[in-house]
Amino acid sequence: MSFSEFTFPVLLISTITVASAANFYQEFDITWGNDRSTILDNGNLLTLSLDESSGSGFQSKNKYLFGKIDMQLKLVPGNSAGTVTAYYLSSKGRAWDEIDYEFLGNLSGNPYTLPTNVFSHGKGNREQQFHLWFDPTVDFHTYSILWNPQHIVFSVDGTPIREFKNMESKGIPFPKNQAMRIYSSLWNADDWATSGGLVKTDWSKAPFTASYRNFNANACTVSSSGASSCSSTQANKNAWFSEELDSTSYRRLEWVRKNYMIYNYCTDIKRFPQGLPKECRMV
Ligand SMILES: *[C@@H]1O[C@H](CO)[C@@H](O)[C@H](O)[C@H]1NC(C)=O
Repeated sequence: MSFSEFTFPVLLISTITVASAANFYQEFDITWGNDRSTILDNGNLLTLSLDESSGSGFQSKNKYLFGKIDMQLKLVPGNSAGTVTAYYLSSKGRAWDEIDYEFLGNLSGNPYTLPTNVFSHGKGNREQQFHLWFDPTVDFHTYSILWNPQHIVFSVDGTPIREFKNMESKGIPFPKNQAMRIYSSLWNADDWATSGGLVKTDWSKAPFTASYRNFNANACTVSSSGASSCSSTQANKNAWFSEELDSTSYRRLEWVRKNYMIYNYCTDIKRFPQGLPKECRMV
């Protein structure tokens, strides 16, 4: 990038920076569950709840194509076994792209499981699962997705837990052409979520509630006509657009993988008897 580009009107840059701690009324639509999903505190807080008759969910008004997206979540406390809180980015259609966080509840005192996945062109099967180094039900914690042309990075409170690199040059599809919305939902999955479906949801503890706040997207938004808020030169000026992991981040990522990763598709030889997925053999 040349210096002359930097002297270009500051106005252009400001149009693509979404104000921090954006308002839930302005950024999201409640999509199901009626009043089980509520926006509170002048748009600063959103809660989802689940009872025996329904879960609930919301989605972003905007579609994004690349960005750095932060959300703070406080998960269902106590006996949350059987409940699933999903928080993800997804496009539409048969060859959709998706970047997933899921939070699987557990019996009181037992850890949540956090599965992650990346779909490109309709193909997923890239689960990595983690436990967390804190109780995610006591306070809000920040779950971030950095998505730029080089990689997708999942981070928790600023600590990277997973990096999915763009290895298109090796023939591995990478999400980069389809705009995605943010979706979140809280629902009952006691047929599989906790200990493979052995532990059922305890409805006497309902309603179950998860809370959201401090949504922040530094991102390129795409309108219904397909126009992006970022031209490529504008996007290039955003630090997140070219953000890489530094050596400290890689050390922290290794710390998480060593101590908190409980499943990695890349080591699941039984699941892939014909050979591990190609990207697993690249690292
Ligand atoms: C629940 O807790 C058990 C015991 O600590 C653990 O093995 C399991 O991974 C936890 N998560 C789920 C979703 O069952």
